[in-house]
Amino acid sequence: MHRELFERAAQLATEYLEALPEQPVGAQATREELIAALGGPLPERGEDPVAALERFARAMEPGLIASAGPRYFGFVVGAGLPAAMAADWLASAWNQNVSLNALSPAGAAAEEVAIGWLLDLLGLPRECSVGFVTGGQTANFTCLLAARNEAYRRAGWDVERDGLLGAPPLRIVAGAEAHVSLFAALRMLGFGTARIELVEADAQGRMSAPALARVLAGSGGTPMIVCAQAGNVNSGAFDPLPEIVDAAHAAGAWVHVDGAFGLWAAASPRRRALLAGAHRADSWATDAHKWLNVPYDCGIAITAHPQAHRAATTASASYLTNASGPERNPFEWVPEASRRGRALPVYVALRTLGRAGVAELVDRCCALAARMASALAAAPGVRVLNDVALNQALVRFGDSDEKTREVIARVQRDATCWVGGTTWQGVHAMRISVSGWSTTEADADRSVQAILRAAS
Ligand SMILES: Cc1ncc(COP(=O)(O)O)c(C=O)c1O
Repeated sequence: MHRELFERAAQLATEYLEALPEQPVGAQATREELIAALGGPLPERGEDPVAALERFARAMEPGLIASAGPRYFGFVVGAGLPAAMAADWLASAWNQNVSLNALSPAGAAAEEVAIGWLLDLLGLPRECSVGFVTGGQTANFTCLLAARNEAYRRAGWDVERDGLLGAPPLRIVAGAEAHVSLFAALRMLGFGTARIELVEADAQGRMSAPALARVLAGSGGTPMIVCAQAGNVNSGAFDPLPEIVDAAHAAGAWVHVDGAFGLWAAASPRRRALLAGAHRADSWATDAHKWLNVPYDCGIAITAHPQAHRAATTASASYLTNASGPERNPFEWVPEASRRGRALPVYVALRTLGRAGVAELVDRCCALAARMASALAAAPGVRVLNDVALNQALVRFGDSDEKTREVIARVQRDATCWVGGTTWQGVHAMRISVSGWSTTEADADRSVQAILRAAS
């Protein structure tokens, strides 16, 4: 029974993936059609698993977005490396609860090896602590949780014992162009949006170092967290990390870097200068499901302060400590207790790409973004709004919000490729993010043609 079911699942998945490069990139069914196809009353009796799986796949497919395909340029979305996807299937089949070493010695060991490889690849100190979480937002949350508790500890307040009520003041400083998930994480940590001190950003979205120096000048010994960014979600720009780290550390602050996708530039010898100074920060949030192209979901929280990190996220009970030896327990570094083998696809992605493969993936995406941007900029009435230094391009049509919105809508209807929209420096723009492993020059050129057709 297992064999028939899993072979059918593999067949359905393979058929889907093989057809993907030529599928329309957008959904082909409405919400109502999808609910009609999937819905109906709760079955009174269970169905045959193979038949149920087939029905499920057929009902789902018209509503799937081909974001795992080669011409999806929305948000910042990885396409799922086949080897990492296959590892994810195995992780599901093994169904390990990779929280305690005692619950999955193999899961814990693979995670530990992946951590060593990641720190090496990202140019971060080997002593760093790492937790595998669901995404960039949770990675920001986890890092900032460690930062908050450590900042309070340095101010003589034990937030793990005494909580936040009555805690001394703590300053939070972030760039005006920080990602929304950073603010969401801070809000969940008890820091209301109005309390965050925003530092002005330049035309590319980079935090201004002189403006930060002015903000820090008034610190007066108050504990502080400074949040920097490596890779703006719209422009791909990097904050000036060396200046930020120097100034923030001189003021006694913890420096957190949100590098959800930008941290991977460290893997490319040609681009790692963008991250100069990053290794001297105190924590880093990144995603494996974006640029490393492991299947959803996988974020990575990294800190240079293992003691503070573990103290913020660990838990203890006698049935847990009884089960544990001195080995590393994956749950002690994340907000979750029970958890899947989230690091296993990361291990296999790194094993199959190697150092050279990750560098090549990063460089190829950047080169394709530049190729698309320059081909679009050569057309009349089309303007690229950012320096395309990474994998992100912002494009405006007819110098008009209305025209730009209309072009985006037409491109989405055409479904050769998928691009989204954003507001950049007060005007509407098309966002192009090249983050998928399978995009080729032919895909980039075909997408440019589709965009120019929509604009004409
Ligand atoms: C800079 C930055 N930080 C954080 C995130 C949030 O990541 P996730 O969606 O994986 O939670 C994103 C997502 O695009 C991002 O670009």
